[in-house]
Amino acid sequence: MARDILVTSALPYANGATHLGHMLEHIQTDIWVRFQKQRGHNCIAVCGDDAHGTPIMLKARDAGITPEELIAGVSAERQRDFADFHVVYDKYHSTHSDENRELSSAIYNKLKDAGHMTSRTIKQAFDPEQQMFLPDRFIRGECPKCGAPDQYGDACEACGATYQPTELGNPVSVLSGATPVERESEHYFFKLADFEAFLRDWTRSDHLQEAITRKLDEWFTAGLRDWDISRDAPYFGFQIPGTEDKYFYVWLDAPIGYMAAFQALVDERADLSFDGFWGQESTAELYHFIGKDIVYFHALFWPAMLEGAGYRTPTAIHAHGFVTVNGEKMSKSRGTFIKARTWLDHIEPEFLRYYFAAKLTHRVEDLDLNFDDFMARINSDLVGKYVNIASRSANFITKRFNGRLAGELDRPELAQRFADEGETIAAHFEARRYSQAIRAIMALADEANAYVAERAPWQLAKEDGREAELQAICTTALELFRQLTIYLKPVLPATAERAEAFLQVAPLTWADLKQPLLDHKIAKFKPLLRRVEQPAIDKMIEASKDDLAAAAAPATEAQAEPKKTAKAENKESDAPTPDDGIIGIEDFAKVDLRVAKVVAADHVEGADKLLKLTLDVGELGQRQVFAGIKSAYAPETLEGRHVALVANLAPRKMRFGISEGMVLAAGDSPHVLAPDEGAKPGDRIK
Ligand code: MSP
Ligand code: ZN
Repeated sequence: MARDILVTSALPYANGATHLGHMLEHIQTDIWVRFQKQRGHNCIAVCGDDAHGTPIMLKARDAGITPEELIAGVSAERQRDFADFHVVYDKYHSTHSDENRELSSAIYNKLKDAGHMTSRTIKQAFDPEQQMFLPDRFIRGECPKCGAPDQYGDACEACGATYQPTELGNPVSVLSGATPVERESEHYFFKLADFEAFLRDWTRSDHLQEAITRKLDEWFTAGLRDWDISRDAPYFGFQIPGTEDKYFYVWLDAPIGYMAAFQALVDERADLSFDGFWGQESTAELYHFIGKDIVYFHALFWPAMLEGAGYRTPTAIHAHGFVTVNGEKMSKSRGTFIKARTWLDHIEPEFLRYYFAAKLTHRVEDLDLNFDDFMARINSDLVGKYVNIASRSANFITKRFNGRLAGELDRPELAQRFADEGETIAAHFEARRYSQAIRAIMALADEANAYVAERAPWQLAKEDGREAELQAICTTALELFRQLTIYLKPVLPATAERAEAFLQVAPLTWADLKQPLLDHKIAKFKPLLRRVEQPAIDKMIEASKDDLAAAAAPATEAQAEPKKTAKAENKESDAPTPDDGIIGIEDFAKVDLRVAKVVAADHVEGADKLLKLTLDVGELGQRQVFAGIKSAYAPETLEGRHVALVANLAPRKMRFGISEGMVLAAGDSPHVLAPDEGAKPGDRIK
């Protein structure tokens, strides 16, 4: 029976270009949606831009345009990116839309009427120069725990402590450099704890991946706190009904944007009803594909909001991990922070789809794009195995049999076996075990190639009187190729389309697996895919470095590092990610730990907790590091000593200069860790 399925991807912030991290999510979603459609289900996918919030407002202001102009431009660009990667949404909308304004107000009112909203006056940092309240991430200062300078208002990157922005030492506003003052303001809160019983049950009833359920248990233990859903003017967002100058926090109306996008689609399509998918009685399935960083919003706030406002709740949340490139976090300086458009300029988009598919699992794991592995896989799997089956047999059919396939297969049982694999492969796709689906498909491709090699049509072609055999073998090979095309179609939709044109068949569905293509005229074979070569990758990485130079020039500090400021502002500081805290040896191996000798230790003018250390790191030369150890050490007692240094930490620009690493120390006091005698500067600590 055909299922009604609604699928969403997280709504990307409208203040930045699409990058490969986003693409992982949209490709994962698109493969799943295409698979469902190919299986004959009524599967609908919606997405849109997340258009509200302080960073978008400020970015538009800096660019001298209205936020509406900014988000319109980003949205158009993004939709071109998606189309070129063959990512298709039935509706790509925006949170800054009439549908969303109405739904957000309605949901807020329902929650309020049911008593799930409360208000109270809070103190918040205020920028006296810019005349606005500052989100935590727009304040920097010294960590109250370890003294590391230049930390964000909510968490320390050096020691991992979390705190209130008011606890920072020597705080400054990222916007103006002014010292923030405290101001009072009335805020509205959603009483999440009202839904504790509902959420405890919901989060344990198969709606979530196991790792996430475990993480949520920790959050329950920590206690469900009221959620601050209002922001003061100036703010780019929707005004809260019944107020003059209060706005919905971007994360309140963002998930409602899923509903708004669907509503906009309903307005275009007579066959859909809003309640059929969102009403409490809905029998449709609802899935949200998201990254691990936004689980808190989707697995707690969102189901609680839906429940409280009288809507259905999601069938499941499908969370994925983060993209890394060559084993490291995407980095602008290494040229691995790659934009969707930069990829498109240099490499075939379906190759990214295939590579992601080949590595995606149903678990919340990070996915590494390793370029050597990428090249090897594409060239061997797609060009060497899949396309090769067709290219080795097609020409005989064209030249010797006038393009006509035989009326019978040479090896029907082999085609039957290929078709029989269909349910296993489908089950892998359904459960988002794409890597297992690809493995199963490539195992079949190996079998097909082995069959062609064994029957060697090129040999038969040289012999007289073996025409029928030759035609039946090539027909069999092309039938296997056709079946593989069906399996790969969710991943490689454009290649599948070219294959359909070559085979002269209607769009292939899953149901076509079992009807072999016989006594049928095919078109002349044209190469379906070309190999990927190293220079294309090198150029793409070079171009990504250029992007950085171009992007860094006009940006203000707030946007120079979108991951840390612009984006992070939109995150709640109490929203940890569902990592299980366990790392593999390969993660640990990324840390370059070295023995270093303290050449000089100095006080730092204006810093209460820091010492400036000049370190000799042997083969790595000299490093300058600011360490929060002043409370425990007089500088002169450190000189000449050996310490342990994290040597490959990205350099950090601080108010006092650049810090080029981190010295290891234990406890609050703190005690500097030192290697035993005999260790020399530059020695690796393993
Ligand atoms: N606007 C919010 C989502 C609101 S949904 C109601 C947001 N936007 S985002 O642009 O920062 O991220 C959009 C999606 O991309 C998120 O699911 C996020 O996890 C994902 N990714 C962003 N960077 C990523 C990687 N480097 N790797 C994989 N996915 C990542 O969050
Ligand atoms: Zn700290």
